[in-house]
Amino acid sequence: MVELPVERLCRTNTIRFCSTKSTEFKVNGLTERQHLEKPSTGSSKDEPGRCFADTVLRDVIEGAPLIVDKDGTVAKCNIRLVLNLSSERLGYATQKPEGLLTLLLKGASAAGDLVADFFCGSDTTMAVAEKLGRRWIGCDLERWAIHTTRKRLLGIESCQTFEVLNLDKYECQYWQGVTFGDSRDKPLTERALYEYLAFVLKLYGAAPVLGLEHLHGRKGKALVHIGAVDAPVTISQIGVAIKECAQLKQDELHVLGWEWEMGLYYLMVEEARKKGVKLLLLQILREVMEQQAAAKADVRFFEPAYLEA
Ligand SMILES: C[S@@+](CC[C@H](N)C(=O)[O-])C[C@H]1O[C@@H](n2cnc3c(N)ncnc32)[C@H](O)[C@@H]1O
Repeated sequence: MVELPVERLCRTNTIRFCSTKSTEFKVNGLTERQHLEKPSTGSSKDEPGRCFADTVLRDVIEGAPLIVDKDGTVAKCNIRLVLNLSSERLGYATQKPEGLLTLLLKGASAAGDLVADFFCGSDTTMAVAEKLGRRWIGCDLERWAIHTTRKRLLGIESCQTFEVLNLDKYECQYWQGVTFGDSRDKPLTERALYEYLAFVLKLYGAAPVLGLEHLHGRKGKALVHIGAVDAPVTISQIGVAIKECAQLKQDELHVLGWEWEMGLYYLMVEEARKKGVKLLLLQILREVMEQQAAAKADVRFFEPAYLEA
């Protein structure tokens, strides 16, 4: 690790730790606009006639410096804490102000550079990177953070298209391939798919049922549908399972899934109720993939957390 010459970024002692992996790094000196009461050496006048001087950025523990870009554009960077009443506030205790990230990204990158935040939380880094024309990668292990991030980015006018990738999905596919398939690279055979369903049914304490189109098992008086590992359970998928359940004059359906289509929960519970079927949605947790837990049948299924759109 090489320590960055922070003094080239701004005249500050507030950045305690700033390092780089290689000796190739970017430090753009930042310029701040200071309005003056009267003209002084090197000062100029802006359009409304106010005196100003553009100087090296000062110590910015708190405040809202006016940052001057190379093309002369002036923008206020508010780096004050994101308090409860702030319009930026998204409920993250350690949410950073956009102004702070603006300073950091302007000081350490140029348009088109790639910025990464592997603990992105409420998405401040990527939102600012997007607004400043940087490319970005963001990661977080919390589903709510990904949801907040997606929503915040979509709220940015002319936001570039982006993709949300779920690493869990690849991990699950890998697990399914090596556990039930012949190879992780080949598509699953019908037998391997059956073994996958039988495995999850057994963990759930259900028995396989044969010959039905969308229903895979039975637990007590409930019929059971199991979602695929590599795709979210969709509204239409649950719809056909409810229909088949109703046709069989069965009044309880349990759907077990790894991922869920957005907005499905209340919609499907209501849809099932109208058809006289009590619907229970249950999350397949990653412990299923852990041999020890599965061997001890120490795997529980919970109702998935409902995310407000
Ligand atoms: C303090 S928050 C970041 C807040 C962010 N600076 C902002 O402005 O919103 C830290 C985030 O790191 C995530 N996190 C913690 N451990 C992680 C891990 N091992 N991998 C990925 N994300 C992780 C948490 O879910 C949380 O959302």
